[in-house]
Amino acid sequence: MAVIADHCPEIQVTVVDLNEQRIAAWNDADLSRLPVYEPGLDAVVGRARGRNLHFSTEVDAAIAAADMVFLAVNTPTKTRGLGAGQASDLRWIEASARQVATAARGHTIVVEKSTLPVRTAETVTAILGAAQADGQGKTFSVLSNPEFLAEGTAIADLESPDRVLIGGEDAGAIEALAGVYGQWVPDERILRTNVWSSELSKLTANAFLAQRISSINAIAALCEATGAAVREVARAIGTDSRIGPKFLQAGPGFGGSCFQKDILNLVYLCRHYGLEEPAAYWEQVVMLNSWQQQRIARLVVRNLFGTVTGKRLAVLGFAFKADTNDTREAPAIRICRDLIEEGATLAIVDPKVEPEQIARDLGCSPGGGAASLSGEGGWVPAASPEEAARGADAVLILTEWGAYRQLDWVAIAAVMRHPAWLFDARAVADAAAARAAGLNVWRVGEG
Ligand code: UGA
Repeated sequence: MAVIADHCPEIQVTVVDLNEQRIAAWNDADLSRLPVYEPGLDAVVGRARGRNLHFSTEVDAAIAAADMVFLAVNTPTKTRGLGAGQASDLRWIEASARQVATAARGHTIVVEKSTLPVRTAETVTAILGAAQADGQGKTFSVLSNPEFLAEGTAIADLESPDRVLIGGEDAGAIEALAGVYGQWVPDERILRTNVWSSELSKLTANAFLAQRISSINAIAALCEATGAAVREVARAIGTDSRIGPKFLQAGPGFGGSCFQKDILNLVYLCRHYGLEEPAAYWEQVVMLNSWQQQRIARLVVRNLFGTVTGKRLAVLGFAFKADTNDTREAPAIRICRDLIEEGATLAIVDPKVEPEQIARDLGCSPGGGAASLSGEGGWVPAASPEEAARGADAVLILTEWGAYRQLDWVAIAAVMRHPAWLFDARAVADAAAARAAGLNVWRVGEG
């Protein structure tokens, strides 16, 4: 919405949320304190806020005034009831559709921005249809407009998208939304389709992307076992234009709020339509991802003489990828939990993730498990990689922050307990420098 406001000064954009704290944070005068860390976002908000970008808790008033309403609520995986563990929880989509139905005036175009299972627009349309019939002259058009930006590169992805996808039945509504994006996106990149194809395209795009990561991680494990190098393999296959070079980076498995959720959603849809083999096929992408995370925790333990009890391990990076403060489904969570379970004390540092968030994700506050042989694991926050490494038997790199490419391995090795290890799950560190400084080095995908 900030990017739309930035490019379309004649459109008034109001972002509404029931959560007062969130909205207050978006209105914070200090742009470095916006709730989401995203490179370049502060500048965009700084340009548009107060001009034609507003953040407010007055949801009904904003809906009543709007010609177009974007539904951008979260749709996490259901944790209970029918489809638990796979289907998306649509309660917030339904609640907001009902609120739009009540508060809207005149004709309103309703745009599904949240990632939704196929045919959700039917639900939204049914709810809005009931309001349309109540005689107050309200009318609605429903569009699907899934988002393809990735966190950490969101502003660049929005400024220059590979494509914008708009699904709908009402040509006038489609052109109205295409006109908004058309302010800065070339028309040939604005794809028009029907609602269901649009909804399914979003799930499919994420499933294909995630599948590439599980595929390369499977090959990484084979490389480690056989002495090949996964980055060499990725380079060799990536030059095949049909395969392409992107998204072939082996790592600790994919995290983030989207891939796992969307694939499970796809699995649920397949099962719903009785397609057991396709369901099992996609499910395997998620299973391989969990396997990769567990594999890394296990190999750390194995290399540290089969036990990490009472040992201090430095963990560099907790976010699910670089350039974000988002930790949802971060591979670091699973790996850290497994190591704490094994009795390790982790010293965790991340440039953008607050210790409070790490505590929530790990389900335990810092402090517990002062490195001892009692068997009780725990974690402590650290302010820098050097501080984390002090007295540690190993350094684990779990997020590919740029700063981790330039670590001073001589200084780090000097404060560690030896024999000491570097486990680089993102293959970003200068492995030669770490070896020269006396560390044993494991890098993902290298035999
Ligand atoms: C993903 C998609 O890339 C976006 O196109 C989509 O819009 C978004 O989900 C969404 O559905 O909202 P995002 O989850 O923000 O974006 O981040 P990605 O860059 O896709 O990374 C996902 C995970 O895969 C990260 O943990 C990342 O480290 C990992 N990854 C990515 C790899 O392990 N290797 C790679 O080569 C690429």
